[in-house]
Amino acid sequence: MTLEQEIQRRRTFAIISHPDAGKTTLTEKLLLFGGAIHVAGAVKSNKIKKTATSDWMEIEKQRGISVATSVMGFEYQGIKINILDTPGHQDFAEDTYRTLTAVDSVIIVVDSAKGVETQTRKLMNVCRMRKTPVIVFINKMDREGKDPFDLLDELEAELQISVRPLSFPINQGAKFKGVYNIFEQKLDLYTPNKQTISESIEFTDINNPELENYVGETDARKIREDLELIDGVYSEFNTNDYLSGDVAPVFFGSALNNFGVKELLDCFIKIAPSPQPIEAQERKVDPYEQAFSGFVFKIHANMDPNHRSCIAFVKICSGRFERNENYKHIRHGKMFRFSSPTAFMAQKKETVDEAFAGDIIGLPDNGTFKIGDTLTAGEQIHFKGLPSFSPEMFRYIENADPMKTKQLEKGIAQLMDEGVAQLFVSQYNGRKIIGTVGQLQFEVIQYRLLHEYGAQCRFEPISLYKACWVESDNKEKLELFKKRKVQYMAKDREDRDVFMADSAYILQMAQQDFEDIRFHFTSEF
Ligand code: G4P
Repeated sequence: MTLEQEIQRRRTFAIISHPDAGKTTLTEKLLLFGGAIHVAGAVKSNKIKKTATSDWMEIEKQRGISVATSVMGFEYQGIKINILDTPGHQDFAEDTYRTLTAVDSVIIVVDSAKGVETQTRKLMNVCRMRKTPVIVFINKMDREGKDPFDLLDELEAELQISVRPLSFPINQGAKFKGVYNIFEQKLDLYTPNKQTISESIEFTDINNPELENYVGETDARKIREDLELIDGVYSEFNTNDYLSGDVAPVFFGSALNNFGVKELLDCFIKIAPSPQPIEAQERKVDPYEQAFSGFVFKIHANMDPNHRSCIAFVKICSGRFERNENYKHIRHGKMFRFSSPTAFMAQKKETVDEAFAGDIIGLPDNGTFKIGDTLTAGEQIHFKGLPSFSPEMFRYIENADPMKTKQLEKGIAQLMDEGVAQLFVSQYNGRKIIGTVGQLQFEVIQYRLLHEYGAQCRFEPISLYKACWVESDNKEKLELFKKRKVQYMAKDREDRDVFMADSAYILQMAQQDFEDIRFHFTSEF
């Protein structure tokens, strides 16, 4: 196969959802179709139950499971599919945001009874920002849920994207009969069964009286009306609108019952994008370029505290990666050779000799990498697109064991490189501030500092509302702002100026008083 063919046949995507909507179940069913696993129940949910906030075994288990299931590759009808897993717990949302920078498309799972939930909304904001194509899978149709048309309206309103149903349910809950597959003009009948695929019948004309035989008179009438309404309300599906991130196709099904999943996958491989060009600071990089390039989007620490080595997950942006070749680590300005890169097939990790644009490889790392690092065949380019979001919780971090200052410094630096949380240094009192999206991250930091670095830390409360990155074209004004707001100013790890507002009011006042200053809520601007 040529380089071009290899790249062309790759589809790299993430499944995202609010916890419990069915992400793990859907992933597992997709792997079953790919023949990557053979029994249901083989994919472990990587979510930490809410009650487990101080259950360290759970966190360790989570870290173990998520290494194994971070990337799942499989082949389906000649297409190489890479599913990137995202952590279920919302306190690790930052991890998910970063994973979204390494995918070409996304499947969003929505629970038919619950509709759009907070986590889905937040993740969709990131997809929208990056114009990532999304397909929506409305799950759990075997349960009583919301009206399908209401769900479609809710998706449009809450996710701020136009939708286009490509399948439509025939009744739901206990009376669920199946779906009409609009995309393929088939009638997919539902038989609750967790292992096998349901019956799918060619059905190009919905007015064919055969329909009554399959679903009964009432449901036949209803689905005909529904389909007419769909044609009237939604414009015809156009793949380009999906690819540009403007329209989200919607499928209905039940992952648990393996229903509607094959239809989703069959449509996915037809319409989902193959690897797309990626912006570097210097230029746009095309996946089909011969020369290898890639970036680190995730670093995973080893579970065994005696071996502090990590795995750096690299998204290949262009060309072919080869084992034992020399590649340039742009930040260090040095060449590195990797003798044991791993690829991820199903839930197995194995050493590979080559990988192509679109693939994710794992590189053993002893502190060489930091999130966002670029690797190339030699060209001096820097991939961008790994924004930090303004954290939602803040604490001062203090040394609790003065004998271990060095260890603490090193530990904090490495955990921040891994992207566990964000570090700011107050320009007012020099104290270190850790920013996270959830309470759990503070606990993880404290635990890991102790167990991996032998350092002890203590958190102290600080009341902050938001961290925003500030900049201005007017240098004087920026200096004036920093002087006036000195008690609120901090630097991030890249030495950028950050305004730490302690209330919405303070932020609003600052925005009003300093019109020349731009306030950013992500570090990418
Ligand atoms: P998540 O990864 O998005 O958090 O969700 P997960 O797949 O773990 O699914 C959450 C729960 O919803 C699971 O039940 C799962 O069995 C159930 N589920 C998934 N898809 C469907 C579906 O199509 N129909 C119905 N009725 N249920 C579905 P659980 O009781 O939390 O876990 P388990 O004990 O069944 O594993």
